[in-house]
Amino acid sequence: MGATHDAATHKLRLLGERIRGRRTTKLFLKQKVSRKLILDAIEVARWAPNHHLTEPWHFYLLGEKTIARAVELTRVVVTERKDASIGDFKARSAAERPGWLVVTCRKSDDELLQQEDYASCCCAIQNLMLYLSEAGVASKWATGPITRDQRFYDLLGVNSQAAFVVGLVWYGYPKMLPQQTRRAIDEITTELE
Ligand SMILES: Cc1cc2nc3c(=O)[nH]c(=O)nc-3n(C[C@H](O)[C@H](O)[C@H](O)COP(=O)(O)O)c2cc1C
Repeated sequence: MGATHDAATHKLRLLGERIRGRRTTKLFLKQKVSRKLILDAIEVARWAPNHHLTEPWHFYLLGEKTIARAVELTRVVVTERKDASIGDFKARSAAERPGWLVVTCRKSDDELLQQEDYASCCCAIQNLMLYLSEAGVASKWATGPITRDQRFYDLLGVNSQAAFVVGLVWYGYPKMLPQQTRRAIDEITTELE
């Protein structure tokens, strides 16, 4: 009983550490992440809670050619919105990100269903990022301007009438993990009798 309890407590502590320790990371090593690991992470991601089991997500795993096109699109979109030097800078940073994955959510005319489907997709992304984190792979969920640009949808072959991008997830082995903080629990919790 004692040993079983200790083992369970240890597992819980490790789970808490994993969730707490996952960090949004911008700087990655060049080392590639195996396709098998990403497919395993997608397999786990889809076990997110999902009202009505709509399975509203789709995962786009970008290969080298598509990444190169997305980098060029980043340059174009940022140059249009800012200027050429910022466009070049953003494209250079994007080119250094070794892994690119895009998660879309199906669109619905029903407001509640749309909200619930989006929530499930967010849970799925968190599952995916935690699984990768456990494997030593860091990630960054991004919703920058290219993720809302029709040209990005065209590049991925996503029908923007039927689905929208929930996140572009960059992933790779981290150069370093940043520090983060959160507010105190009593600031965010209300206990009712
Ligand atoms: C829906 C969503 C969109 C995000 N979009 C961006 C983004 O466009 N650019 C960015 O730098 N970080 C983005 N992030 C990451 C957050 O900035 C990050 O989670 C936050 O700084 C907390 O850091 P942590 O993930 O290490 O706890 C996004 C996160 C979420 C959940």
